[in-house]
Amino acid sequence: MIGKNVIKLESVDSTNNYLKLNSNSLEEGTIVVSKIQTSGRGRSDHTWMSEEGNLYFSFILKGWISRSKVFELLARVSVAVIRVLKDFNIESQIKYPNDILIENRKICGILIESYGALEIDYGIIGVGINVNQTNFRELDYKAISIKHFIKEDISTDQVLDKFIREYNELEGVPFEKIFDDYLRYSMIIGKRLDYNDKVYTIKGISDKGKLTLESYEDTIEISLNSIKLKDLY
Ligand code: BTN
Repeated sequence: MIGKNVIKLESVDSTNNYLKLNSNSLEEGTIVVSKIQTSGRGRSDHTWMSEEGNLYFSFILKGWISRSKVFELLARVSVAVIRVLKDFNIESQIKYPNDILIENRKICGILIESYGALEIDYGIIGVGINVNQTNFRELDYKAISIKHFIKEDISTDQVLDKFIREYNELEGVPFEKIFDDYLRYSMIIGKRLDYNDKVYTIKGISDKGKLTLESYEDTIEISLNSIKLKDLY
């Protein structure tokens, strides 16, 4: 269960960093949320633009997750975000592995970081949801927010509360069901991409988070981190 303890900050470098620094003293499920982040981070060392008005939060899970379960966690968080947006009557899709998109524009990014030698001692799950931002400047064509649809300011606390509710509810749901939803909302299946100088079609996503790619010559399985799905077509 997450969100029994919620730490609210005005500003922080990154909510993921905050939890990492304080991981020893904080209880399982603690959430930290900040109005702005001065060094918000995305996957692959990208910067996550973090001005006031959007939702930036992370939560910590301690000592129960095996490495093979990271995809399960990612799927659970993704489906929870899809449900939060549905609550606002907004239909969204999952771009494997960790983006939530609407009409090909990103509304949410998820950054899972795990620490531990063999198995995971603790995991930090960071979520950024575009809530009230309407001008993304040079990223305008590829970002979108809840306000774009609702046309009025939305409280970020309300969005966080909805996430906590949805996530906690999904904790009681067997992974097979969540995985069904994950696939149903996935937008990459059937798309093509270039990989190792060949054109592949994405045939499926396994419940371990691997992608099956098919070309005229071969069918291969690749893992979460070995590919960037920038140029799907
Ligand atoms: C991505 O799309 O690459 C993931 C973006 C994750 C952004 C969130 S905002 C809250 C948390 N703190 C961070 O520094 N990053 C995550």
